[in-house]
Amino acid sequence: MNEGEAVCRCESYAAVTERAAVAVGRWLGRGDVVGAEEAATLAMRAGLDALPIDGRVVVGNEAENDPLSIGTTVGQGGDRVDLAVDPIEGAEVVARGDYGAMAMIAVGDPDSLPRLPNMYMRKMAVGPTARGRVDLAKPVAENILAIAKAYGRNPADITTIVLDRPRHEDLIEDIRSAGARIKLIPDGDVTATISAAIRGTNDHLAIGIGGARQALIAAAALRCLGGELQAQLWPTTRTEINQAAEYGIEDVNRVFTTDDLAPGEVIVAATGVSNSDLLRGVRYLADSARTHSVVMCTRHNWVKFIDGIHFFARDRREEVRLLS
Ligand code: FBP
Repeated sequence: MNEGEAVCRCESYAAVTERAAVAVGRWLGRGDVVGAEEAATLAMRAGLDALPIDGRVVVGNEAENDPLSIGTTVGQGGDRVDLAVDPIEGAEVVARGDYGAMAMIAVGDPDSLPRLPNMYMRKMAVGPTARGRVDLAKPVAENILAIAKAYGRNPADITTIVLDRPRHEDLIEDIRSAGARIKLIPDGDVTATISAAIRGTNDHLAIGIGGARQALIAAAALRCLGGELQAQLWPTTRTEINQAAEYGIEDVNRVFTTDDLAPGEVIVAATGVSNSDLLRGVRYLADSARTHSVVMCTRHNWVKFIDGIHFFARDRREEVRLLS
């Protein structure tokens, strides 16, 4: 990325997530996780290869020979960038035909994004109002109280978002005891994190154990939104502890801050695949597909929501519609 660049390239990354979303949106409710993942991955790779970048996938798909596996280089050549890709955040969501799937990408300065092992992380995220007031090491009740104070509300009016998993039973009990509200979600903790950092969603805290890849992308989004994320690896076996060491993380209890996970200048682009509180899902019309995206950039210091209409052919039968 070139600081003096007159034309902002950030939005070109939305073209990449739009492409992935339009491809994978067709797999909604087909019960095919692998098909959805492949469609999103191939489309995102094609989108990245069309950009004038020298991109290195730092956080990506695990399988070797995958078009977006870790270490892959993408693009036509140009600005060097680090990439954290999540072609489909919620492949299961798409397969089920459920709410809240997105195609996502985070972009960092060259050699800036940390390498993270593919394992769970325990994380907590808040928006700008509660930034600097929470501490992952403290009991959740204390954090809820601090968030309530920051918002000038009663703890009973604070909404927490938690992935609906058996591993969160104790956490859910603790949140209930603290008196806060809980929104249990079946999948998608990146959306939850972004939601907690955007005013008007009525969400205030995203908390629980989810993927490391999601933690990094969520941290990048929170850098752009002024929020805060803290995360800690959650190894479940000795092998995972060793794996963390192989990634240079000797202290598995280390708490990663927003800046640790997403340092330097970052761009985040996300396009809705299925509807969520944040983004509308892809709609397919006779001549076009309509997408809804958000792009955020620390360098240019903006957040944009983009309503995209992607025509299938030059010969059009339908008019462009205003948003209803
Ligand atoms: P994927 O699309 O990579 O499957 O992620 C969906 C997701 O819900 C993430 O948002 C979350 O971090 C992770 O799965 C939780 O993992 P698990 O489903 O194993 O509990």
